[in-house]
Amino acid sequence: MSEKLYIFDTTLRDAEQVPGCQLNTIEKIEVARQLEKLGVDIIEAGFPISSPGDFNSVVEISKAVTSPTICALTRAVEKDIDVAAEALKYAKRGRIHTGIGTSPYHIYEKLNSTPEQIIERAVSAVKYAKKYVEDVEFYAEDAGRSEIEYLARVVEAVIKAGATVVNIPDTTGYCLPNEYGEKIAYLVNNVPNIDRAIISTHCHNDLGMATANTISGIINGARQVEVTINGLGERAGNTAMEEVVMAVACHKNMDFQVDINTHEIMNSSQLVSNLMRMPVQPNKAIVGRNAFAHSSGIHQDGVLKNRETYEIIDPEMVGVDQSSIILTARSGRAALKHHLKEIGRYCDGEELDAIYENFLVLADKKKDITLRDLEILAGQGGKENKTFKLEALQVVCGSSTIPTATVQVSFGGDTFTETASGNGPVDAAFNAVKSITKRRVHVEEYLVQAITRGSDDLGKVHVQISHKGHMYYGFGANTDVVTASVESLLDAIGHIN
Ligand code: KIV
Ligand code: ZN
Repeated sequence: MSEKLYIFDTTLRDAEQVPGCQLNTIEKIEVARQLEKLGVDIIEAGFPISSPGDFNSVVEISKAVTSPTICALTRAVEKDIDVAAEALKYAKRGRIHTGIGTSPYHIYEKLNSTPEQIIERAVSAVKYAKKYVEDVEFYAEDAGRSEIEYLARVVEAVIKAGATVVNIPDTTGYCLPNEYGEKIAYLVNNVPNIDRAIISTHCHNDLGMATANTISGIINGARQVEVTINGLGERAGNTAMEEVVMAVACHKNMDFQVDINTHEIMNSSQLVSNLMRMPVQPNKAIVGRNAFAHSSGIHQDGVLKNRETYEIIDPEMVGVDQSSIILTARSGRAALKHHLKEIGRYCDGEELDAIYENFLVLADKKKDITLRDLEILAGQGGKENKTFKLEALQVVCGSSTIPTATVQVSFGGDTFTETASGNGPVDAAFNAVKSITKRRVHVEEYLVQAITRGSDDLGKVHVQISHKGHMYYGFGANTDVVTASVESLLDAIGHIN
């Protein structure tokens, strides 16, 4: 019988705290439902003391999903633990994740404390959390740079206090795979009561080692991995769930029971990317647009003879199924709603109407509506920014013309039209938008993504703008890239308070 490897997803906590990735409660529930469909064992739903919004999301996620354990983060502070317990009161299975820094940087500089005081605080926090729930996870923040014998003492003490999972975070992404693996092995071999807890990995990707470190942790005895969809997270991100799951699946010598429905990986990736407005880089392992694309003639020839010559994963296994779904301009709301449900998007009423309207526009332009298209439409429909609405766009460009754009936008019941020129059609249209909205914004990042299946396909545009020292993100999708660009800019500007 294979040993169980627990998948702990922290997309809604460690990734969601990244600027630009914030979700509202409805969106978090949507992601949580998809994570449940994906089969994760634990969903870290938030840090309830941090804001009323986070508190509420943990409450609502606890009500909305039933299979995974719902986890709430705290510091080693009683008030945090009280609030987390309160937020978890509807969870079928709730876990409190409490902890404190254990590296010299944290002990002496951040917490102005001593190693012994830190152990006392850690033990008290675990005991306090135990009053509320049986399932208590302890994190030793910055374990990656903590002195190993001291870390072993902390781990022994918190297990004695009742911790059922001990998390060894490489908070700064500092470790090399062999170092991280050695840390886990040291704990396995030197903590006398280690058999009473599960060791968890939690790796950050500052040196691009998060997945390698996580795998090294598993090889050396960790049986829970903390991961995020698409590897989103603080700074360079966290370990990507899809990478760890598929690495284990591909290497049969790592004989673990992993209860992930891999066919839901791509759906999960797209949903999170759309809702969090974080594009997936094309060459991203497993879920990037190019992850299963073979461009060189030699590779194409090999794949045609036998797929396995250049592919270690059957794309179908991770839900990369390019087949079209049967939705046309004649499909009604019920069919659309049904297919949206298939991709984990539950909606009705005005929200469904908004998506349906966009769907009809797309269906008129495009023969095949794919699941990807639906995910994009759903992302747009749900997040549509109602402040500014693009009514019309006309662009004149070419090699011997000054690019000029006329943009018409409705706003607060009125319609405004401006014409402007620029370095290219997008620049011209952006200049027109800026004069209509009268916002002094600077475009910091502009990304056009994935025209995958021909010239009639959807172009997705992500834009990041700055305004008075703050960053705002916008997203647009349209068969016309200039239109998608204008929509993304209006979306971003609409978020300025
Ligand atoms: O990276 C980290 O140390 C964390 C802890 C709060 C678990 O995210
Ligand atoms: Zn983290």
